[in-house]
Amino acid sequence: MIPRDTVDRITDAAHVEDVVGEFVTLKKRGTNLLGLCPFHGEKTPSFTVSPTKGIYKCFGCGKAGNSVNFIMEHLKLSYPEALRWLAKKYNIEIVEKEITPEDRQRQTERESLFIVMQYAQRYFTEQMRTTDEGKSIGLGYFQERGLHDTIIEKFQLGYSPESRNAFTKAAVKAGYQPKYLSASGMSIVRNGTEENKELTEADLFDRFAGRVMFPVLDEAGRVVAFGGRTLSSDKKTAKYINSPETEIYHKSRVLYGLWYAKRAIQNADTCYLVEGYMDVIAMHQAGVENVVASSGTSLTIEQIKSIHRFTKNIVVLYDGDEAGQKASMRAIPMLLEEGMNVRLLMFPDNDDPDSFSRKVGAEEFQNYLRDKSQDFLFFRAERLKSISSGDPIQRAGLIRELVENIALIPDNIIRSVYIRQCAVIMEMEEQILQNEVNKLRRNLSSKIKSKSGGAESAEPSSEQGSAPEAELADTPAVQDLSPDYDHEEIELIRLMMQFGNVYIEIEGEDEDTAENHTIDIPAADYILFELWRDEMHFENPMHQAVLDEYIHEYKNSRFATAQQFLNSSNPFVNQFVLKHVLNSHELSSKWKHFGVEVPAEVDNLKRGIEHVLFSYKEKKLRAFIHEKQDLLKTTGEPDIWDLLRELDDLKKVKSRVNKYLGRTVVK
Ligand code: UTP
Ligand code: MN
Repeated sequence: MIPRDTVDRITDAAHVEDVVGEFVTLKKRGTNLLGLCPFHGEKTPSFTVSPTKGIYKCFGCGKAGNSVNFIMEHLKLSYPEALRWLAKKYNIEIVEKEITPEDRQRQTERESLFIVMQYAQRYFTEQMRTTDEGKSIGLGYFQERGLHDTIIEKFQLGYSPESRNAFTKAAVKAGYQPKYLSASGMSIVRNGTEENKELTEADLFDRFAGRVMFPVLDEAGRVVAFGGRTLSSDKKTAKYINSPETEIYHKSRVLYGLWYAKRAIQNADTCYLVEGYMDVIAMHQAGVENVVASSGTSLTIEQIKSIHRFTKNIVVLYDGDEAGQKASMRAIPMLLEEGMNVRLLMFPDNDDPDSFSRKVGAEEFQNYLRDKSQDFLFFRAERLKSISSGDPIQRAGLIRELVENIALIPDNIIRSVYIRQCAVIMEMEEQILQNEVNKLRRNLSSKIKSKSGGAESAEPSSEQGSAPEAELADTPAVQDLSPDYDHEEIELIRLMMQFGNVYIEIEGEDEDTAENHTIDIPAADYILFELWRDEMHFENPMHQAVLDEYIHEYKNSRFATAQQFLNSSNPFVNQFVLKHVLNSHELSSKWKHFGVEVPAEVDNLKRGIEHVLFSYKEKKLRAFIHEKQDLLKTTGEPDIWDLLRELDDLKKVKSRVNKYLGRTVVK
């Protein structure tokens, strides 16, 4: 681990304008700098860098962060990798901190797996290139399928010999421990091997014997898994087998080919989605590099999100066969819901991208991709129109399906464009289609609400992930009984981050003498104490996570200002600060700009804090009392007396809280 003070030195040295400036041409604009956003294609600059705040923000795509975030995002590095990158740039030496034995164990385990996978890839390639078996069977196979040598090399293809444990034997001989060979999924433990015994070579055999090998790379270009294709035409052997899930391979997150496609996807602002390993490779050979496959699984949300980081536009290329159609029909609603623009491209005669590109050649293939893709929703609408004269039941089903798909689109404007255009295509009234879509969206919106109501299920989502709810707000309001605590929770954290160290004067009662006296304590202590006293937890798990980190850092008293939280490795904390803390500065400076004097918040700090704190408590109490009252309806003797007493107490607390808030309560 990189020690905290080294992190601080790195972030101090890495001025945002300097770091961003290495990749983006920036022009001075007032106190800020302006350039073209590197994260989305734009023609007029909306990417702003604020040297005083140490952050960048794009007003086009919303990406924002500090210098470390920029390197993470732009170079697709993890947090520690980004720090190392910056440390190198600024000549800061990193002396890694001692890590706990558990950390180390985990770390060495992961690292060992990466090393095993790298060894395996080199081994398979070497077998294919240098042995007779490898050359004639492995290399021969790829050549027969028309792959050029440069492409075979680029994708690091290889061959795993037929003998049942050739790989395992070689790996053990090269010094790799049997337990890592098994943990990496490259070797399989024989049936009947005693559990927990220390594995030896004799307990293992190769997972991929006798197959041609396709390494699967993660986003940092490291081999994390393999797909192996059989060379036998025996229908009983699986055509492809894939690595199992391991500590370094999470199927649902990895896309085959993404490592090779990143740049091309960004440049073309489009991504082709195909089914197989060979499709990705064949398309590269045909000169199309913005292509990925979800090999080995059906497409997942995480995979879609990782495409979305590079582009909104996706073209689904599917085989004419039924399995292919089914797979894409499952994927498309997910893509629409993620806000992607979905186009569809089909190949004639059961061809897949691989076979078709070989059949027609690179140039014609590229033309085909360019000319023949269709917008998915318009395609469905056309299809509907063409069978309009036919079976009315089938037609109704198809309309329903179309409406369902349109309703998934999160963006209001894009959705209405689709409604209008599809209505035109189908020659039906726009309003009818609009009404149907609205109906569905109301259901959808209540579904999302009820889902986020359950605290456990509501795991912190990324900023983008929480967007649908906000977007749904335009549909007629769905009655929402659970009060919204977000505003107060955000305010409390913001106040602590901005003014936590400022002392405020509060009235306390001396426990022994019962006398009132005033004491000065830091604002953060006061807020934390008030929350703690009433055992209050934040309702929004994301806010609670930020609060937890705040408390943690506050206790260590290292990290108590907003600027420092901005450097947090926890993306929730970092994004929270950007969104709620740093932005809020802008308000008063804007008024100042118009010559209006705004009393500084710090001058009224105590009242400000009390107001938020007690509004929050009041809301919570109100909900709590409601809950108890509901319970009262169904409770019988003798519990009812306890409950009534509890309610009475609660009401007393509530009236105290209300007094603070300066309201009189009638009820
Ligand atoms: P296909 O059966 O369409 O094969 O599977 P393909 O890609 O055209 O393969 P070739 O051209 O015959 O070599 C599509 C993808 O589904 C996964 C693989 O990732 C494959 O590329 N798959 C297929 C498996 O994981 N296991 C299987 O048994 C079959
Ligand atoms: Mn194929």
